[in-house]
Amino acid sequence: MKKARIIGTGSYVPEKVLTNKDLEQFLDTTDEWILTRTGIRERHIVAEGEFTSDLAAHAARRAMEMAGTPAEAIDLVVVGTITGDFPWPATACLVQQKIGAVNAYAYDVSAACSGFVYALSAAVSAIESGRIKKALVIGAEVLSRIVDWTDRNTCVLFGDGAGAVVLEAGDGDAGVLSTHLHSDGSFWELLYQPGFGSRYPASEDGLKQRLPFLKMQGNEVFKVAVRSLAEVALEALQANGMGVNDVSLFIPHQANRRILEASAKRIGLGDDQVYINVDRFGNTSGASIPLALDEANRAGRIKPGDMVLLDAFGGGFTWASALIRW
Ligand code: UT7
Repeated sequence: MKKARIIGTGSYVPEKVLTNKDLEQFLDTTDEWILTRTGIRERHIVAEGEFTSDLAAHAARRAMEMAGTPAEAIDLVVVGTITGDFPWPATACLVQQKIGAVNAYAYDVSAACSGFVYALSAAVSAIESGRIKKALVIGAEVLSRIVDWTDRNTCVLFGDGAGAVVLEAGDGDAGVLSTHLHSDGSFWELLYQPGFGSRYPASEDGLKQRLPFLKMQGNEVFKVAVRSLAEVALEALQANGMGVNDVSLFIPHQANRRILEASAKRIGLGDDQVYINVDRFGNTSGASIPLALDEANRAGRIKPGDMVLLDAFGGGFTWASALIRW
């Protein structure tokens, strides 16, 4: 069976930076509170006229450039996002058009912060089955357009960005060794966007109730997140007969520094094995893992043969891991 190898990574964040000090200007919050509770210093925010598909296309072009893969060679474009340009059509279709991947089929995956790992898993299966040869897997989000900028409990946490990888069918040892996906719908109300969908269709009243904005019970999410991130990371290691010492780099979803550190500790990983960039980007949901992966890759933190462990948790709840031999 062919393995799905990552042959290129790319990422993109919008130019505008919103610091904690900037937030102090219009919210009852402080730099100190945000930093100590979350580890976040700043986040990037889209400009007017800039959309999720734009961020995704930029990240995709960078990944294709590194891979040396022309757009026409891509068989599949899959985007993990919960903040697409539209409820439908899929943002992946818009990206396909923007980059000129004329031979690809394209769809979105809705798994919140686990979106990229879910999307990766789907693309890996398509490659391993022999159905396709090359896939572009993207995580892209514009959270700034669905957070309630009057709710200090949530708006300080999130940012915008995108990351992408090009996967190719290959022989040999390198590639995605396994992916592990889980969901538990009984937690849906702890983290969701109520409107506007079939349950709360568009209405002026709904707007007054702020239904189109993200709602989260942070404390409850926190507890389940730490436990689930640890469990699914260990599941990936066990499935491949490996231990924590085999992990060259652990790239968890960048939700909150305290969650990352608590889950890494629970898994038994040392600080030097964990990649953290939540301080500069905030929580970018489905974009956070590929964004961190690309940063780490371009910084030379990942070398051929390295074992990279991706670990995600998000609304749904959904959680997922992937173990990759670089
Ligand atoms: O992407 C995956 C899903 N999301 C997550 O993983 C997020 C998970 N949750 C968290 O990261 C944390 O729960 C938060 C960072 C959201 C909150 O941290 P916390 O330590 O759980 O704080 P808390 O919600 O218990 O709030 C403590 C206090 C409250 O005040 P009172 O009720 O104790 O007087 C909040 O009103 O902090 C207050 N507070 C703030 N104060 C200043 C909440 N947000 C802010 C703020 N600035 N931005």
